[in-house]
Amino acid sequence: MQNFLLFSTLVLLAGTTQAEWRLVWQDEFNGNHVDLSQWGFEVGGNGWGNNELEFYTYNRTENARIENGNLVIDVHVEDYRERQFTSARMHTKQAWKYGRFEIRARMPNGHNLWPAIWMMPLESIYGIWAASGEVDIAEFRGDILDKIEGTAHYGGTWPNNIYSGSGPRSFNVNFSQDFHTFALEWDHKQLRWYMDNQQYFSFDIDRMLWSGKGANPYTKNGQPFDQPFYLMLNVAVGGNFFGPGPYVTPDQARQWPKHTFEIDYVRVYQQ
Ligand SMILES: *[C@@H]1O[C@H](CO)[C@@H](O)[C@H](O)[C@H]1NC(C)=O
Ligand SMILES: *[C@@H]1O[C@H](CO)[C@@H](O)[C@H](O)[C@H]1NC(C)=O
Repeated sequence: MQNFLLFSTLVLLAGTTQAEWRLVWQDEFNGNHVDLSQWGFEVGGNGWGNNELEFYTYNRTENARIENGNLVIDVHVEDYRERQFTSARMHTKQAWKYGRFEIRARMPNGHNLWPAIWMMPLESIYGIWAASGEVDIAEFRGDILDKIEGTAHYGGTWPNNIYSGSGPRSFNVNFSQDFHTFALEWDHKQLRWYMDNQQYFSFDIDRMLWSGKGANPYTKNGQPFDQPFYLMLNVAVGGNFFGPGPYVTPDQARQWPKHTFEIDYVRVYQQ
């Protein structure tokens, strides 16, 4: 693992000579348990606006633990409160404006598993979702093992919001077999999405990002992506990301080949 880290650091330096990225925050997940001074948990089973099936628990090793130098978010099939699945949804307690956000992870494999690496605004000064923005660094469907997608949401408060994204993008890899590096670069002009340092999508933000529907929440180019955002990691079960239900049943879920989302590290760089 150490050799790999050194190698990937060198590749990163070689690949981004135009920008001097300085490491400002990291969690390598080398301790014994989730560092609660750096991570908060979001708890509940209300569907999270997407008709998701899981209940997100707090600091419970069944659902979030450190193992072999990785953060492991583990989806369990179990009756818990009003739900039949448990999982975890975690956020960094720090937030950043601009930077390179790099996450090395291995995805789960199973019907209707939905891991996500994403960012949300610390304060919703332009209004409720999605007027204040959301950036999905990588989302994955556990049914389709070679595709990820990156998306930005913005433009106005729901339902007057819009999004711009890569759509499901196919790579010649099996994301639940090997670890890969997912990254977002964000400056005042652009958002750029990378998979293993290969850029696969970009979105220009140096312009008015209002959707043209409803009230315009913005007064300047680049809003809402001119505010601090924090990073989130979670695995949902089912939900609108898969289209309309019905979604996976507990019996089907017991056949999931791999119900863990493993994160080797999260690193944040700024210029
Ligand atoms: C969270 O987990 C850690 C590690 O197991 C433990 O030390 C801590 O007491 C837990 N906190 C709560 C609130 O359960
Ligand atoms: C991808 O990797 C997963 C996890 O190791 C495995 O279960 C699955 O069979 C692999 N799929 C393909 C198409 O290789």
